[in-house]
Amino acid sequence: MFFDKAGEHNTEATLKLALKKAEEKGIKNIVVASCEGDTAFKLLSLAENRFNIVCVTHHTGFREPGVNEMSEETRQKLIAQGVKVLTTTHLLAGVDRAIRNQFGGVYPAEIIAQTLRIFGQGIKVAVEIAVMALDAGLIPFGQEIISIGGTSSGADAAIVIQPAHSNHFFATEVKEIICMPRNKKQV
Ligand SMILES: Cc1cc2nc3c(=O)[nH]c(=O)nc-3n(C[C@H](O)[C@H](O)[C@H](O)COP(=O)(O)O)c2cc1C
Repeated sequence: MFFDKAGEHNTEATLKLALKKAEEKGIKNIVVASCEGDTAFKLLSLAENRFNIVCVTHHTGFREPGVNEMSEETRQKLIAQGVKVLTTTHLLAGVDRAIRNQFGGVYPAEIIAQTLRIFGQGIKVAVEIAVMALDAGLIPFGQEIISIGGTSSGADAAIVIQPAHSNHFFATEVKEIICMPRNKKQV
């Protein structure tokens, strides 16, 4: 499925397409990006406890030092409903972003990120969070999973991916693109 424009208005369609693909392929593990929790809750309500859902948030301090965009109450609600919530350093930013912020320029992790953004923000995020979830031990190694990302908020891209650990990042294989926006700019 190719959406016309990027953005959170594609969230429900993206989640439904991702779940349909998971059922068709017998995939049990789904990784979703959700900063404040809205997208994770929407996925949860459609998925009805049939999947291992990993919700990856922004790292604490992404917008404001010491603060996470997901409230503690939301985090606990997701955990109580069986969602694994992962908050950690972003794979494709990390200390490379600190070098850019301090000295300027662009460094390998962010070059990889920018290259993946040729497919849109959501695809870049879906690849990134799949590897982060694997490194955290929250999804099994060597299996195809579904990963869902979006453009700033919500979801507009989903893929079937077999992630590799970050120390072998380039062994990651995107098996299928379930959906993505044709026009990448956020509307
Ligand atoms: C680790 C991580 C990295 C992200 N990187 C980007 C990015 O590079 N570009 C972008 O548009 N959105 C990015 N996002 C946002 C997600 O794609 C998604 O739209 C958002 O997490 C949904 O949050 P919500 O449920 O609060 O709306 C990122 C999210 C996470 C968790």
